[in-house]
Amino acid sequence: MIKNEIITHGVKSPVIIIDEYEFEDIAAEFINCEQYMDLASETHHGITRLKHSFKVAKATYRVAKSFGLDYKSATRAAFLHDFFFNDELDNQSELSKAKFHPQLALQNSKKYFNINDKEADAILNHMYPLTKDKPNTFEGMTLCLVDKGVAVTDRLSLVYSQTKTYTKKINFLLLLFLITNR
Ligand SMILES: [Fe+2]
Ligand SMILES: [Fe+2]
Repeated sequence: MIKNEIITHGVKSPVIIIDEYEFEDIAAEFINCEQYMDLASETHHGITRLKHSFKVAKATYRVAKSFGLDYKSATRAAFLHDFFFNDELDNQSELSKAKFHPQLALQNSKKYFNINDKEADAILNHMYPLTKDKPNTFEGMTLCLVDKGVAVTDRLSLVYSQTKTYTKKINFLLLLFLITNR
């Protein structure tokens, strides 16, 4: 980890330059797994589950690394935290899907990858406080918080893009109305 100093508004502050190529190394294992890449056909908070998982993994990597945590385990758990498929949760309410999917993600993770205890705990408890048990490690808690942050921003950007579409339609109708009533 390289530390530099930048000057913002006359104040010196340290910046941490993260070796992003390490993130690509961690990601390679998942990119090379066909079953994992099938997450690209699953929808999740208005985007694909693959994209959501990559966003959570990247943010978890950055946070965990800058806090000196076991960033490899945190990032691997982040990649795997939503490794489940919608048809595995058919006929369940949204609440029970939210509570049950970490168990499925853990099962699938164990089926296709070698995961350690820290990663298993982080995957299983990432939906806390919706689930009873909270993550037992800082890495797990990091994933739990980052996932919620990414989910909220994904939902907000979905609402924003829908609002933009509606605004465009309303503007078009207004224009049409003005032209036809001149
Ligand atoms: Fe999840
Ligand atoms: Fe998630």
